[in-house]
Amino acid sequence: MKLWGGRFQKTTDSLVEDFHSSISFDQRLYRHDIQGSIAHATMLGKVGVISPGEAEQIAEGLRQVLADIEGGKVEFDVAAEDIHMNVEQLLTAKIGALGKKLHTARSRNDQVAVDVRMYLKDELKEIRAQLKELVETLLNLAEQHRSTVMPGYTHMQRAQPVTLAHHLMAYVQMLLRDMDRLADCYRRTDVMPLGAGALAGTTFPLEPEYTAELLGFASVQNNSMDAVSDRDFAVEFCADAALIMMHLSRFCEEIILWATGEFAFIELDDAYSTGSSIMPQKKNPDVAELIRGKTGRVYGDLMGLLTVLKGLPMAYNKDMQEDKEALFDAIDTVKGCLMVFKPMVATMTVRKENMAQAARGGFTNATDVADYLVKKNVPFREAHEIVGKAVFYCLQQGKNLEELTLEEYKGLSPIFTEDIYTAIGVEYCAAARKVRGGPAPEAVTKAIAAARDMLKTI
Ligand code: ARG
Repeated sequence: MKLWGGRFQKTTDSLVEDFHSSISFDQRLYRHDIQGSIAHATMLGKVGVISPGEAEQIAEGLRQVLADIEGGKVEFDVAAEDIHMNVEQLLTAKIGALGKKLHTARSRNDQVAVDVRMYLKDELKEIRAQLKELVETLLNLAEQHRSTVMPGYTHMQRAQPVTLAHHLMAYVQMLLRDMDRLADCYRRTDVMPLGAGALAGTTFPLEPEYTAELLGFASVQNNSMDAVSDRDFAVEFCADAALIMMHLSRFCEEIILWATGEFAFIELDDAYSTGSSIMPQKKNPDVAELIRGKTGRVYGDLMGLLTVLKGLPMAYNKDMQEDKEALFDAIDTVKGCLMVFKPMVATMTVRKENMAQAARGGFTNATDVADYLVKKNVPFREAHEIVGKAVFYCLQQGKNLEELTLEEYKGLSPIFTEDIYTAIGVEYCAAARKVRGGPAPEAVTKAIAAARDMLKTI
């Protein structure tokens, strides 16, 4: 017998039973569903809709159901559709007719909303903690590599010398923004929808503020129709997750590139690499590739969810049951990726000498030669022209800028003197970029301190 069977003359077709059942994926909400129900029953007892004694018996029954589920004693029933009706059925089996009072002044529509919000709040805290650990790992690595010079790139062409610390700190900025976005998402998730009922509230004298307090929500919904149909918080999470994945994916792309024999800037630890079944020499960056690949599915989760919600009329529609798999997949994927990404980065070996050597090639100091002339009063555009010619000359001679003789420099412009050679050493070029947010060790030291401060507040 269905919990809603009274109005029906026939049983549900078995195909429909399977088709609309969500228990296979919403069972992960069981703990939050039970917590929500205990709070709801307690509130009903407080306001006198049921007696306080009844409320306590229901709460006790629900605690036993929770223990049964956690003890592996429960097999969920597909015919009971979803986690909400499964729990109610288990409760009634345990405490009898009183269990049937639990759903007073409540609908599965506000119930599922409260469950998902509670679940996401917990997951947001966990993901935030993972991001924090990753940022700390990167900050520690940056601290060790403040003087590790490497080429900075634009268009994948060597551009100007930077430091590895500076490069890593670029990712720290991204991840700090991600943490901030999650905190923002948390605020909008932290709204308690019970009291909204199916869509039109209830005639019972509920105290949703009390339920919110019991469940640790910061605020209560202000419109019952919005409360049961709002999934903005889930979309926001998926968007935040998509950005986190995009950041990890960009980082992974660099790790894959840096691990090539051609770059050889890093070597991944054996524990975070895999081999080939045919080519004995291979050591592949599969972890980084898989994270890059999984970015696609999180984008898909976001697009899927947005598309499910598009065009839905007020208020609850069964389409909304489709929110969960997208949300859960985004949560699982981000957590799984963060879990392996951090140790992969923490254990990689940095080939400092290869980085420095790459920085010395590719004329990464050409801007510094131009700046040298500008500091001696040559207009920048003119300096640019002179150095462009110097590079062309070097390419013909098979030399780099440090290898030109003073005579050759003077041939390009009489303004050059012996001090040109100190001005264009790549270590010097990186260290001289002391501007706020720049790659110089002292600028990076300040950026690291600022990031550590920020970590305390977001
Ligand atoms: N399993 C449903 C969902 O996830 C719960 C709400 C169902 N409400 C309803 N009136 N059918 O959305």
